[in-house]
Amino acid sequence: MSSAAPHLGDRVHDKILYGGDYNPEQWPRTVWDDDLTAFKLAHIDTLTVGVFDWSLLQPDEQTYDFSLLDEVVQTTTSAGKRLVIATATGAMPPWLAHQYPEVCRTDFEGRRHVYGQRHNACPSSPAFRRLSAALADRIAQRYAGHSSLVAWHVGNEYGGACYCDHCAAAFRLWLREHHGSLDALNHAWNTTFWSHRFTDWEQIVPPNALSEHWRGPNHTAFQGITLDYMRFTSDAMLANFVDEKAAIRRHDATTPVTTNFMGMYRPIDYHRWAEHLDFASWDNYPPDERSHARMALTHDLMRGLKDGAPFWLMEQTPTMTASRDVNPVKRPGVMRLWSWQSVAHGADAVLFFQMRQSRGACEKYHGAVLDHAGRTDNRSFREVAKLGEELDRLGDAVLGARTPARVALLFDWDSWWAAEISDGPNRHVRYQEVVMAYHRALWQANVALDVIPVTADLSGYDVVVAPLLHMLKGDLAQRLERVVARSGSVLSTFLSGRVDEHDNAFLADVPGPLAGMFGLRVEETDAQPPDVVNPVRLGDPDESVVSEGRLIFEVVIPQGAEVMGTYGADFYAGTPAVTRNRVGDGGEAWYVATSLDDDGVGWVVGRILRRHGLVGPYADVEDLELAVREGNDGTRTAFLLHHGREAVDVALHATGTDLLTGEEYAHGQTVRMEPTDVLILREHADSP
Ligand code: GLA
Ligand code: ZN
Repeated sequence: MSSAAPHLGDRVHDKILYGGDYNPEQWPRTVWDDDLTAFKLAHIDTLTVGVFDWSLLQPDEQTYDFSLLDEVVQTTTSAGKRLVIATATGAMPPWLAHQYPEVCRTDFEGRRHVYGQRHNACPSSPAFRRLSAALADRIAQRYAGHSSLVAWHVGNEYGGACYCDHCAAAFRLWLREHHGSLDALNHAWNTTFWSHRFTDWEQIVPPNALSEHWRGPNHTAFQGITLDYMRFTSDAMLANFVDEKAAIRRHDATTPVTTNFMGMYRPIDYHRWAEHLDFASWDNYPPDERSHARMALTHDLMRGLKDGAPFWLMEQTPTMTASRDVNPVKRPGVMRLWSWQSVAHGADAVLFFQMRQSRGACEKYHGAVLDHAGRTDNRSFREVAKLGEELDRLGDAVLGARTPARVALLFDWDSWWAAEISDGPNRHVRYQEVVMAYHRALWQANVALDVIPVTADLSGYDVVVAPLLHMLKGDLAQRLERVVARSGSVLSTFLSGRVDEHDNAFLADVPGPLAGMFGLRVEETDAQPPDVVNPVRLGDPDESVVSEGRLIFEVVIPQGAEVMGTYGADFYAGTPAVTRNRVGDGGEAWYVATSLDDDGVGWVVGRILRRHGLVGPYADVEDLELAVREGNDGTRTAFLLHHGREAVDVALHATGTDLLTGEEYAHGQTVRMEPTDVLILREHADSP
């Protein structure tokens, strides 16, 4: 046993869990044995069962029937599988909507929906809350203490929003709790603007297309109202999760409880949810084949939910998705590469959706471990089986191990929401894109990174990167100042420090409470369409790095900061676009006043990383990823992951043992990395 820590309740596993969603109730009983034989071939040890079983488990309000799920649980347990048991509330049964129409949502346009689809219960419906908790209670009562149970899976992919009367009432209650009085609420929402002073809580209605909005969810007359509704919606669904978790805890005090998140998913503030989960888990369906940096960021964001503790990859497709207009298969080696990438970033489970391909309905073309024919001799199954074998070989080597990060990237749902529902200055600015641009530069530099909420402790980091920190809450400004005061570096961008927690502008120079630390004020903010470029010259005149600025051009007046880059065009030509404020004994606060291209962001990030000695060994090799997990006994396991399209020769950064082949490698030795290659190196303690 090397580094495994008891991070999941009291359960420590002996290897990375491998398997996925298994829904045998959707197939004839005759294929179940074939399934189990195939799972054995693929080294699959963990199955998530019952995610969409509500209508089977409860055919009507008075009747519960566990016979089929019992059989699934027994069969899989006898085959030695570990089970993640779901509470089955992700999709509602028809009788529920028929009997209680209130469980169906009212959408943004104000249309009350009728029965259909899934993931669409009104979070405030008393009938849904009562019956979902009752089902979770029954399931927990039945399977608590079961020998194969390793975790509870509540609901499925919570998301969306509802604007019904139940939600309106719940919103008013939420507002009373959060604002205390109507005076406070009127002040927070700045309601004197456009004659909105509320004199009775009952006057408040949800912000949607019938009330404050036009052109959709991002266009609102009152940001404060819409922002509070986003927070309320996230909290309302959290209450659904908490209802079910409480029901489980009545029967089972220790088995960890989770729900599957969706990574960078705007409607739900996962930071607000995190403390209620025993471990984080998420479903990885990247938008395209070149999403490696984005996935790394998302894994780090998910790991950051529980203070750096390992998370689970709850779902990924072994081959293709079905929900996109075009659904390419994963190329040979890609599923393996992406799976190891999740482990490299802290996953202690690698699970698929799903084990056998759907017979019918909208996911019949979605890839699965077993296709419709149940073949075990096709490419995708062979790749699944090979990875299973490798995960067996890795055993407990990295279980519980953490990421040793000295750099933090701040991620904030409130800033995301506030920046994107803002009228002005530029609708083309997207929060995720700005974050991803800064992340890409850090990722390419092989930097070990924590992606953390703005409330996290910053005292362990040398560098804090805070792109588009639009909303500034609590004592964050002081905590950032402390990073700089102890010789660290802080980097932020345009449109930061603009608003308080209610989305009201600071009655001060921009960037508000951050102005002192950055040593500047922003006098004007120009916005241009995406095709307008302003060249930005970076560094000393002899360095002559020219990058491109777009979308936002803040006119900066330095007040102590040095100019590190200047605009090349327009009436602000020659004025600062990038600044650095040196503080105290070697602290630096960098400010980037425009949306720089990748080269420009890379230059700024590189300057900061170099001064802290944090540029990684493969920073110059495009698309070669390095991620390290460190056990609590100090053992370091380095993952080299090649996402590039060409083979590369690299000089190894450490001496160590390849955990998959047992081969020994020396520091400086040349290794050829082919596209999709993975090298997992247990570094020797005395490695240089
Ligand atoms: C989500 C759901 C699964 C399935 C997959 C298909 O992640 O949780 O039930 O629909 O998508 O990609
Ligand atoms: Zn509702």
